[in-house]
Amino acid sequence: GGMRKKLIAGNWKMNQTPSQAVVLADALKKTVSGKEAAEIVVCPPYTALIPVRDALKGSSIHLGAQDLHWEDQGAFTGKISADMLLDAGCTHVIIGHSEQRTYFHETDATVNKKLIKALAGGLVPIFCIGETLEERDGGRAFDVVKKQLEGGFAGMKDAGHTVLAYEPVWAIGTGRNATPEQAQEMHAFIRKTIASLFSAAVADGMRILYGGSMKPDNAAGLLAQPDIDGGLIGGAALKADSFYGIVKAAG
Ligand code: G3P
Repeated sequence: GGMRKKLIAGNWKMNQTPSQAVVLADALKKTVSGKEAAEIVVCPPYTALIPVRDALKGSSIHLGAQDLHWEDQGAFTGKISADMLLDAGCTHVIIGHSEQRTYFHETDATVNKKLIKALAGGLVPIFCIGETLEERDGGRAFDVVKKQLEGGFAGMKDAGHTVLAYEPVWAIGTGRNATPEQAQEMHAFIRKTIASLFSAAVADGMRILYGGSMKPDNAAGLLAQPDIDGGLIGGAALKADSFYGIVKAAG
């Protein structure tokens, strides 16, 4: 995987008011030199996107959102469109996070519509997949992930610049990360699945991030695996020094 540039993305989830987010963004901007080996993305809540964009002006850190709606505009109370995100300075958008799937009725079909819309608008989707503990213990982890990939990419001839994020649900916010070996095994399976859905070249170029209790002290072991191309970071992304510790672990 030498050709794939690593990507470290912070998912701030429902944390950071706009004013708090600016403090965090300022701290990150001071810490990041622009010479890091990894690409860096932060995904604040919607209300903080524009202030964070402004705070990050002149830095190499990219801006992402945590979701989008697939319609262009209109009577969809509470929803945010791709154009709104683009105009707010986003380059990336998380799609299909397990918390959306678990709490807010996200399905493979809605993920599919969102991926198509994000790519059409020129946003880089960070497409999240991953099994629950029950599914892993039941020996179904690989089937579940394969189905999420097939459903999310249904009918698509092109994955564009899509980035995948494998986030085993049992590792999210639990302090229990997948071992490097467990993660590598799944990442290799995901890459193989992408090769069969698209092509070997697409699979070879696609970045597959790991997410779930990644921290400065376990990041290097995960990021050293041949099919792990970065991280999607929750809790550890809320402090500039721990997030940057993971960025540095990416080489
Ligand atoms: O999207 C990132 C994520 O779900 C992982 O969260 O807090 O386990 O790093 P955390």
